[in-house]
Amino acid sequence: MECTREKRYLPYNKWDADTLLHLQAQAANSPYQLHYHLHPISGLVNDPNGFSYFNGAYHLFYQSYPFGAVHGLKSWVHFKSQDLVNWTNLGLAVEPDTMADSHGAYSGSAREIDGRLFLMYTGNHRDENWVRTPYQIGAWMTKDGKVSDKTILFKNPDHITEHFRDPQILKQNDTYYAILGAQDKAEKHGHIDIWKSQDLKNWEELGFLDMGTEPMGYMIECPNIVRVDGKVVVIFCPQGLDKKIADYDNVYPDMYIIADDIDFENHKLINPGKLHNLDKGFDVYATQAFNAPDGHAYEVSWVGLPDTTYPTDDENWANCLSQVKELVIKDDKLIQKPVKAMRALRQDEEQVSDPIISEKAGQQYELKLKIAQGQTGNLHLAANEDLTNSLQIKFDTQNGKLVLDRAQAGQAVAVDHGTSRETSLVANKDLELDIFVDHSLIEVFVNGGEEVLTGRYFADQANPKIAFEQNTAYTGQLWQMKTIL
Ligand code: FRU
Repeated sequence: MECTREKRYLPYNKWDADTLLHLQAQAANSPYQLHYHLHPISGLVNDPNGFSYFNGAYHLFYQSYPFGAVHGLKSWVHFKSQDLVNWTNLGLAVEPDTMADSHGAYSGSAREIDGRLFLMYTGNHRDENWVRTPYQIGAWMTKDGKVSDKTILFKNPDHITEHFRDPQILKQNDTYYAILGAQDKAEKHGHIDIWKSQDLKNWEELGFLDMGTEPMGYMIECPNIVRVDGKVVVIFCPQGLDKKIADYDNVYPDMYIIADDIDFENHKLINPGKLHNLDKGFDVYATQAFNAPDGHAYEVSWVGLPDTTYPTDDENWANCLSQVKELVIKDDKLIQKPVKAMRALRQDEEQVSDPIISEKAGQQYELKLKIAQGQTGNLHLAANEDLTNSLQIKFDTQNGKLVLDRAQAGQAVAVDHGTSRETSLVANKDLELDIFVDHSLIEVFVNGGEEVLTGRYFADQANPKIAFEQNTAYTGQLWQMKTIL
């Protein structure tokens, strides 16, 4: 589809039903479509938004442009779940239908307040000269899922450029705080800006969060704060970050810092640790996390990157969300684990122990392996008969190294940023892998979630094989995963 700016920002009601049906069919019938992860019904999805618990259920929205695989006029699509795995699509929730969000209902968060869900997000407005104003908007969702009472809360103050977005609403004692991604006018550096309010109507800027680090590139997107095991975790996406400050391979990283606490009033982290990449794979971005009433901290990510094209663009749909993960802290690092309900998707369990794990696994499964220490090898997934086409996991447990390699896994993606990702492991230890494959998505949990490597891949769906390249001492289970989405 040829996509002019005019077309990308056409109001939704100007599109005809036939076009939308055609786009939905393209997404649904794609061989790369996912079957147990949230994905577009049509068009493009990006950031998870409004991840929250309200009225006895989890709620999650995603950024959506329904009319093609481009970043056009964005809205929020609403999903609801009891278990963080099985989601019901409740449709369009936040539409770009006011002056303040005329060019997109951009990312934001949600929080239950007095029996309603308060949504706080960025309204992207452009004037006739295409000059942007980022309005921070509050809206309310009632128990029947209706969103109304959109109100402009504040816009970018004088010292911040048009790059000011993605508010997360937080509460401490009786005060509301919002953290936003921002770029200052003077230096054009990326920051997390903190605001406060007593009544959600009158807002006051407190200042940029001091994270104890050097400049964070030219912009920070999607900042999030979550409390995990008594610590404060700040998750955020710095753009243009100097690789000397923290190394990363993707176009923009999704990073986190663990601190002892946060002092909102003085906008600083107490005893912040170092920067870490949240995911060691290819495509994780815009992660959103929240503290749920069950006492756990959960996160979910966009699996897709800004400024990156993907093979399904040709089919007019793009991207997906990760599975929801539970967060804990061990040895000053985040551990990311699948949530319990993922186990209920397992079916047709097989115990596996041969080098050829399966000739007919397909590409919708969970594979759990314990590889005995002291071995070096290569595991092929989504492989053809002679293993020349496959997604590969290369491991060296002696030297503590693991590589996810998508070079031979079908259609190329973002090759300028490399075709493999490497992570280090504790040397001379058994290696535990919990691998989730969903047609064009792989999520590898290493050693109980000490590292996670996530990536899109676009292999021939007729490649059903899983095999080690060499004799390997291991034990494992393989399950087919149910289609739920
Ligand atoms: C991150 C982002 C956000 C913005 C949204 C728009 O992927 O650029 O900063 O709010 O996407 O869709």
